[in-house]
Amino acid sequence: MGDELGRAADVDRVLIDEKIIEKRLDAMAAEIDREFPAGSIVAIVLLKGAFVFAADLLRRIPRPLEIECLNVSSYHGGTESSGVVKFLDHSLPDVQDRHVLLLDDILDTGRTLKAVRDRLLLEGCAAVHTGVLLAKDRPREEEVQADYVGFEIGDEFVVGYGLDYKGRYRNLPFVGVLKP
Ligand code: PRP
Repeated sequence: MGDELGRAADVDRVLIDEKIIEKRLDAMAAEIDREFPAGSIVAIVLLKGAFVFAADLLRRIPRPLEIECLNVSSYHGGTESSGVVKFLDHSLPDVQDRHVLLLDDILDTGRTLKAVRDRLLLEGCAAVHTGVLLAKDRPREEEVQADYVGFEIGDEFVVGYGLDYKGRYRNLPFVGVLKP
C-alpha cells in the first residue's frame, strides 16, 4: 500500500481498500440480481465518477444487461458542489418502460441522483433503482436515497476508485481521504 500512496501525494489515508471493495461488490451484485424483476436490466452509469465502480459491479451481475452512460457534473473538479446539475449529453438513452439501475459513485447532497432519477422518470421508464458505492452520512439537500449502498462514510472529501480531485486520482484502486 506504500507504493499506492506514493502515486497519490495528496492522499492522507486509505479509507476503503481494494479487497474490501471487491468483497462488498460481490454482495451488492448478488443482492441486485436477487431483487431486480426478471428480464434484462438497463444500467445507466453516471460519468465520470461511476465508471470504475460500475465496471466492477456490472461484471458481477450474471444476467443480460444493457449499459448506457450519462455525463453529468456539478462539482466541476473542486471539493464543493456548484449546486447545479448539468446534463452534458445531447440526448438520453431510450428507457421507455424499462427498469433502470442508475449507478453513481457517491451520494452527497443528493442533487445529482435526484436530478437524473426525475429526468429518467419523465422519459417514461418503469422504475429507477439506484445504486452508489459510497453514501455520505450527512443530511441530503434533496429527497432521494440509494436502494443499494456499498459503504456509508463520514462527511469528508474522498478520492480514488473513480472519484477525483481536480481531475486526478480516479485511477487509484482504493478510496482515500485527501489531505486537508
Ligand atoms: C460527483 C459525483 C456524483 C455527485 C455526488 O460528480 O461523481 O455524481 O458529485 O454529489 P451530490 O450528491 O452532491 O450531487 P461531479 O460533479 O464531481 O462529476 P464527476 O463524476 O465527473 O467527477
